[in-house]
Amino acid sequence: MDPSLIPNRVLKTGDKIPCIGLGTFGSDSVSADIVAQTVKKAINAGYRHIDCASVYGNEKNIGIVLNEVFNSGFVKREDLWITSKVWNDMHNHVAESCAQSLADLKIDYLDLYLVHWPFSNYHPPNCDVTSRSPNAKPYIHENYMNTWRQMEKLVEENLVKNIGTSNMTIPKLNLLLRDSRIKPLCNEMELHPHFQQTELFEYCQKHQIQPIAYCPLGSPGRPERDRTPEDTVDLEDPVILSIAERLKITPAQVALQWAVKRGQIPIPFSVNHFLENLEAAVNIQLTEKDMQAIGKIDRNCRLIKGQVFLWKEYQSWEDLWDIDGVIVS
Ligand SMILES: NC(=O)c1ccc[n+]([C@@H]2O[C@H](COP(=O)([O-])OP(=O)(O)OC[C@H]3O[C@@H](n4cnc5c(N)ncnc54)[C@H](OP(=O)(O)O)[C@@H]3O)[C@@H](O)[C@H]2O)c1
Repeated sequence: MDPSLIPNRVLKTGDKIPCIGLGTFGSDSVSADIVAQTVKKAINAGYRHIDCASVYGNEKNIGIVLNEVFNSGFVKREDLWITSKVWNDMHNHVAESCAQSLADLKIDYLDLYLVHWPFSNYHPPNCDVTSRSPNAKPYIHENYMNTWRQMEKLVEENLVKNIGTSNMTIPKLNLLLRDSRIKPLCNEMELHPHFQQTELFEYCQKHQIQPIAYCPLGSPGRPERDRTPEDTVDLEDPVILSIAERLKITPAQVALQWAVKRGQIPIPFSVNHFLENLEAAVNIQLTEKDMQAIGKIDRNCRLIKGQVFLWKEYQSWEDLWDIDGVIVS
């Protein structure tokens, strides 16, 4: 695919971000090396936006292939949009975390750096970051602002072009918008047809915070820890299936074109379907009627509940998302 055909979204800074990216969280089942080889193949196939994070444990592997791609002259650094994220155990050491990601990815700036979760979590070294942590902390706004000020400094030092948030709620974003000097440009959030988060999505649009959609396909390969019996399956929804059948495309392509047309930036992870997904963003058209039909199948089905970040003061995972107005210090 010719990358110039991929539509961009323009951020408040004027920077252009491709409207689809490649996720790089290989769940628990895809090795770091396979993820990195997939990044290389996806760039060759036309992808120009890669969503990374230190906690995915594969930035070193991705750095090796990025270096190969740049050395080949096929793609220049400025042609790629590269995102990374500071993990919960580094909220007090943002500069160090960013420097590590830059070194691992073998690049000298990031296009976007995100605070991965709004909860600090001081894991001891080599501790399993995926299990519930006895050291997890609730959301404390003063602490978050301390982290955010370190993020702002990275922009001033030209190490990072844009900064943003992930897994935020409206009450938390209200506080951040009130207290920040450099406003968040993007919010990476769970978004798929069965979890449309309309209120937060519209809030982000109103405040010029670009929504980036994780789990855009309903994360069929997500780890066991993120599965519950109540979860629904987007790609088996009858509305998605009937649109796919009519247009002779796959259910995943319906979900991705819905995301792009709605104004989200989906970042599907895929070893086996990345080209199909890129084509969905560029070559497929849904009608307004299709959009409205998909708009009605929201099941409020959050898949990534964040229960590993539960703090003893929170009663249930719902409290992490301020559902009953629980925030905050
Ligand atoms: N900020 C955060 O807290 C956060 C949280 C979760 C995820 N993320 C980011 O978002 C990315 C995407 O989320 P995700 O990986 O959980 O979920 P996802 O993209 O919805 O689902 C990925 C799964 O779908 C399969 N798949 C991809 N394309 C397909 C297609 N066309 N047809 C059928 N199956 C397809 C993949 O298998 P194949 O490999 O076989 O194609 C993979 O198992 C992550 O990789 C990560 O970068 C961020």
